Amino acid sequence: MRNESLTVVDNRTGKTYQLPIHHGSIHALDLRQMKVSEDDFGLVSYDPALTNTASCESRITFIDGDGGILLYRGYPIEQLAEMSTYLETAYLILRGELPTQAQLKDWKWNITHHTIFHENVKKFMDGFHHDAHPMGMLVSTVGALSTFYPDAKAINDPNSRLKQTYRLIGKMPTLAAFAYRHSLGMPYAYPDNDLSYTGNFLNMLFKMTEVKYQPDPVLERALDVLFILHADHEQNCSTNAMRSVGSSHADPFSATAAATAALYGPLHGGANEEVVKMLAEIGSVSHIPEYMARVKAGEVKLMGFGHRVYKNYDPRARIIKRVAEEVFEVTGRNPLIDVAIELEHIALDDDYFIKRKLYPNVDFYSGIIYQAIGFPLDMFPVLFAIPRTSGWIAQWEEMLLDPEQKIARPRQIYLGHGPRDYAPLDRR
Ligand code: ACO
Repeated sequence: MRNESLTVVDNRTGKTYQLPIHHGSIHALDLRQMKVSEDDFGLVSYDPALTNTASCESRITFIDGDGGILLYRGYPIEQLAEMSTYLETAYLILRGELPTQAQLKDWKWNITHHTIFHENVKKFMDGFHHDAHPMGMLVSTVGALSTFYPDAKAINDPNSRLKQTYRLIGKMPTLAAFAYRHSLGMPYAYPDNDLSYTGNFLNMLFKMTEVKYQPDPVLERALDVLFILHADHEQNCSTNAMRSVGSSHADPFSATAAATAALYGPLHGGANEEVVKMLAEIGSVSHIPEYMARVKAGEVKLMGFGHRVYKNYDPRARIIKRVAEEVFEVTGRNPLIDVAIELEHIALDDDYFIKRKLYPNVDFYSGIIYQAIGFPLDMFPVLFAIPRTSGWIAQWEEMLLDPEQKIARPRQIYLGHGPRDYAPLDRR
């Protein structure tokens, strides 16, 4: 039998400690017993940006960054993208198992019947300036929903949690579509319960004067696949925000607003927007070498490349590249795809990228598809937030039900001044 423990000698004191290893990790609190004196606080681990700290045990999503593998509840992302739908995948992520036909029917019915919100929410939308970023509108309005549903505060009631789950998954596309229509000054289009999740979303975005909107089935399916690919991704920045805010027992609408805010940043959900801007700036294949020189000189980053976890091809990027070709059959070819493909080709052959294990991530091709479908750039992170909502809620609920979890509260290494006396203003 292998000895699952770590022997540590504290050279400051000469003492030896045995730390148990569980699932390839040591418990950070086991370090606290290592002290140089009785009144010493004890050793802490220092991990800025949490690059090597597991903050929870989870059974939802598995990533093998070196192998380029992504599993939701054990199912490979490639199989789900091929055979599942977003709503079925959301059920899987939240409940742990694929639904039966009856369970899926009930799930879809409940989400479909929670897509409308109180008319007052429209007043929030109307209050935004015409050029407000839709992600800013989404952050604010999803947070505002907590004031419409005070029952969401009952986070320990499983029935309440389920109701908020229906509401959040159902209403995020409506909020997103209303934000989009507001930015165009167009009347809001209400949900159509006959349509699929993504079909209805396209309806709320693009319906004009027709009595019934008919989504293009290729675009509807492409969006559904993109939603599957974005549904969860273990402990990323926004999920960490969801868990962290949720750990104070804030209601799930407030926690989702925090997660959406985290996703807004250009290093996370904002990256696909940056990719398209970058490709447009490069403009043509002939300008790529010049741009690559700037990347290697550290002047700019190659947006859509690199990942904290994947040090091999991001499996989602491979699927998206295929979906892009299907979408272009309907929309016509987005010329930026040629720049992207050549950029990838050159990068994958270049020592700078090989040495740093930098490969295309999920955002490298998704923006090109969104642009071809007709979404403006600033809607891209919104298109990420909608499907990630199911992952956020699953992670939030897992955190709440985990007896080991408490309010999230990291330590710090204080390097500032020691105690000193306040000097009145006239003596400074
Ligand atoms: N272009 C050029 N160089 C890069 C890039 C990039 N996109 N990403 C990382 N590097 C370089 C760094 O400069 C660093 O080089 P050095 O060792 O010479 O200093 C090395 O690769 C390691 O990079 P880190 O920044 O330490 O990697 P980290 O894991 O912290 O960052 C991140 C990951 C934030 C995703 C980063 O790769 C990045 O900024 N990429 C571009 C933005 C992007 O596409 N984000 C989307 C991520 S996917 C998602 O959130 C859904």
